[in-house]
Amino acid sequence: MAWEGTVCRVKFNPPFSERSSRIPRPAFAHVRAACPEDLPGIARVESQCFPVERRSSRRAMRQSLRSPTQSVWVLGRGSDVFGAMVLFHHPKSLRIYSIAVAPECRGTGGGRRLVRMALALARRSGRQTVTLEADANDTRLVNWYASLGFCVYGPPLTGYYPDGDAVRMRAKVKWDPPAAEKKKAMDDERK
Ligand SMILES: CC(C)(COP(=O)(O)OP(=O)(O)OC[C@H]1O[C@@H](n2cnc3c(N)ncnc32)[C@H](O)[C@@H]1OP(=O)(O)O)[C@@H](O)C(=O)NCCC(=O)NCCS
Repeated sequence: MAWEGTVCRVKFNPPFSERSSRIPRPAFAHVRAACPEDLPGIARVESQCFPVERRSSRRAMRQSLRSPTQSVWVLGRGSDVFGAMVLFHHPKSLRIYSIAVAPECRGTGGGRRLVRMALALARRSGRQTVTLEADANDTRLVNWYASLGFCVYGPPLTGYYPDGDAVRMRAKVKWDPPAAEKKKAMDDERK
């Protein structure tokens, strides 16, 4: 698949107050495409980050890993998984279905890297938008997505979560094909 082997390096730089904590932390975490062996790590992150009623089941996660129209990304180091993101690949858009970073690794840019990976994938694959749904009551989250270029659109999704409403957000992206594709397009134009 086109996104296999795509990797981003994220320097892990915990806040000073947490540096002496005993929680083991990675020196570096990478964003990479998930593999089936990541499933227990992804399930752990899900259980740390979402209340039961908002979690994806292991079965759904396995399905996402196998699906040709979804991709799963992890923030990790070696086999350790600190964050996960599930994308739905629609013809004209990418949808961030789920994104989470383990509490002990938050605030160090991992979540931002995952979102940027989604934006880069959309750009490279010629999709025009990246969409997502966010908890309408979580102002910090909505503002965070806004800082990454997302805008709220359309009416709120009443009852989207068992315990609350959601807002739809989207970011528009410009096509930025890989170098080889760009060269071919330029060569075709010259003919
Ligand atoms: C949203 C989330 C993925 C961000 O991950 P992250 O690695 O901490 O993100 P970054 O380090 O790139 O950015 C940190 C910023 O996230 C923002 N943020 C967004 N939602 C947040 C939340 N619910 N709790 C804390 N911070 C949040 C804060 O503004 C924070 O900035 P600050 O450290 O200056 O206060 C992470 O907070 C998370 O997993 N939350 C729980 C799951 C969730 O709500 N997922 C979104 C479903 S739509």
